[in-house]
Amino acid sequence: MEEAFNGSERVGDIVTVFPGAGNLMKAYRIDFCCGGNRTLNEALEEKGIDRTDFLERLNGLYRQARERNIRSVDWRETSSAELIDHIVRTHHAYLREELPLLSDFVTKIWRVHGDAHPELEALHDRFHRMKEELERHLAAEEEKLFPLIRQAERSGTPADGSEAMKAMDEMEAEHGEVGDLLKEMREITRDYRLPEDACRTYMLAFRKLEELEADMFEHIHLENNVLFPKFRSLCASS
Ligand SMILES: [Fe+2]
Ligand SMILES: [Fe+2]
Repeated sequence: MEEAFNGSERVGDIVTVFPGAGNLMKAYRIDFCCGGNRTLNEALEEKGIDRTDFLERLNGLYRQARERNIRSVDWRETSSAELIDHIVRTHHAYLREELPLLSDFVTKIWRVHGDAHPELEALHDRFHRMKEELERHLAAEEEKLFPLIRQAERSGTPADGSEAMKAMDEMEAEHGEVGDLLKEMREITRDYRLPEDACRTYMLAFRKLEELEADMFEHIHLENNVLFPKFRSLCASS
């Protein structure tokens, strides 16, 4: 039987076609949002992951998903306006809810456990840098870039293509910065491994940070690999 993936596909495209691949990539630390332009073969080689092994797992999961007939939305097929609505209602709303809560948790565990676990200071620092960056970033997307994309889609051509391209490049650069901070937080916490003396808040903070990381990956993936390329090709063709 012909396998679905052979490794020559771009990492971001694989997750677009088969969202379930995101979990497997996460487990192998393959960055599919900011590093989504590389082919899977390149990413596997870079990480020293056995290609045959990985492809077997990936194709196995894909077959299972198809057999279970899991239907998920293929965002390449929808309009950009629908995708933007989805991003704002799910991912942006999630961040606006979670960032202030997490800020309290991360501050609290640093205050209470900072002596025994000095790395919590660095975690506090990186988290708040990310929070600040994200708050600005969400507003910039919603107030500037997304309206430009909606307008361009409605009229078939961007009103100011170069302004839109510039805004998009800025957003992509910020995704990279957020991605780097997430990586640093994962290193600082040694993969969110809990110490033996972790209290409930400690556990909750680490669990929520991991959830936030997963949500951010999905969010950046949809923007970098689906929404922005579609808009770029519209700008290029007009
Ligand atoms: Fe966003
Ligand atoms: Fe974004």
